[in-house]
Amino acid sequence: MKASLITTGIFASVVSAHFSVTYPYWRGNSYPTQWTYPCGGVIANETTDQNRTLWPLDGGAIAFKPTHDWAQTYINMGLGANATQLNITLVAPFNQTSNGTFCFPKVTLPEGVEPKEGDKATIQVIQLSTRGGALYNCADIEFSSKAVDPSPEVCFNSTGVGAQPLDYDGPEEIKDDDDKDDDDKDDESSAISVNPNTIISVMLGALAVAGLMA
Ligand SMILES: *[C@@H]1O[C@H](CO)[C@@H](O)[C@H](O)[C@H]1NC(C)=O
Ligand SMILES: *[C@@H]1O[C@H](CO)[C@@H](O)[C@H](O)[C@H]1NC(C)=O
Ligand SMILES: *[C@@H]1O[C@H](CO)[C@@H](O)[C@H](O)[C@H]1NC(C)=O
Ligand SMILES: *[C@@H]1O[C@H](CO)[C@@H](O)[C@H](O)[C@H]1NC(C)=O
Ligand SMILES: *[C@@H]1O[C@H](CO)[C@@H](O)[C@H](O)[C@H]1NC(C)=O
Ligand SMILES: *[C@@H]1O[C@H](CO)[C@@H](O)[C@H](O)[C@H]1NC(C)=O
Ligand SMILES: *[C@@H]1O[C@H](CO)[C@@H](O)[C@H](O)[C@H]1NC(C)=O
Repeated sequence: MKASLITTGIFASVVSAHFSVTYPYWRGNSYPTQWTYPCGGVIANETTDQNRTLWPLDGGAIAFKPTHDWAQTYINMGLGANATQLNITLVAPFNQTSNGTFCFPKVTLPEGVEPKEGDKATIQVIQLSTRGGALYNCADIEFSSKAVDPSPEVCFNSTGVGAQPLDYDGPEEIKDDDDKDDDDKDDESSAISVNPNTIISVMLGALAVAGLMA
């Protein structure tokens, strides 16, 4: 009983800082395992393979719903029906700011990536929190000349949501821990600041206590 109360508390706070990918529609709900490389713990299977979004041959829209004040963000692609190497950079790393919905209406493919009609691929969105924890999500696509752009209800930027170049403050910031409280407030309740090992040891600890008390 005690253990389940404790773990419920942890997982409730874990969920609050996750993000979802709304276009192309994500492979599946990754909330419980979103820190797992490469696709947030959502493994491709026959069902997810049937639900690919048709995406234009020269690239298309990517929309997601971030929940952090800001996050260092990467968007990559892997070619193939079940790509394991997500090694094509679609968007250079950037600072995605504020929460809500964020959308690039047209992400073009890098030079040399020339998919054919029907080729399959996986798009990976990574968000790194202020403390360096990483969250992963994947969306599976099929390149097609019949792809239709998402509506403005799907592809938009919420008020205040945007992107800016990454600005590293360097060692000064690392030494100066005074503003830690402000910067990290958002992350106090985030998944990524909770190491899964910590969760496990807390669970084991709680179970051990429960066991000792029983
Ligand atoms: C396939 O993966 C999805 C997403 O994780 C999951 O919801 C579904 O149950 C899985 N289906 C099968 C047949 O394993
Ligand atoms: C995709 O690859 C993963 C591991 O690389 C494997 O577990 C999974 O079964 C594969 N899915 C399909 C549909 O081939
Ligand atoms: C398949 O994708 C659509 C959006 O393209 C989504 O609404 C639906 O929930 C997805 N189905 C599954 C089983 O993931
Ligand atoms: C990405 O990975 C694939 C599959 O392993 C490989 O064939 C390809 O050369 C790699 N591309 C880059 C740019 O590293
Ligand atoms: C952004 O986060 C704030 C503070 O948590 C919340 O009040 C607001 O509803 C969020 N906005 C959106 C669009 O999710
Ligand atoms: C959202 O903001 C990004 C970054 O400024 C921008 O590239 C993109 O075009 C915007 N999306 C929309 C739908 O205006
Ligand atoms: C990202 O943008 C936010 C808001 O402007 C800023 O506070 C933060 O320092 C930036 N982070 C990086 C790494 O550029």
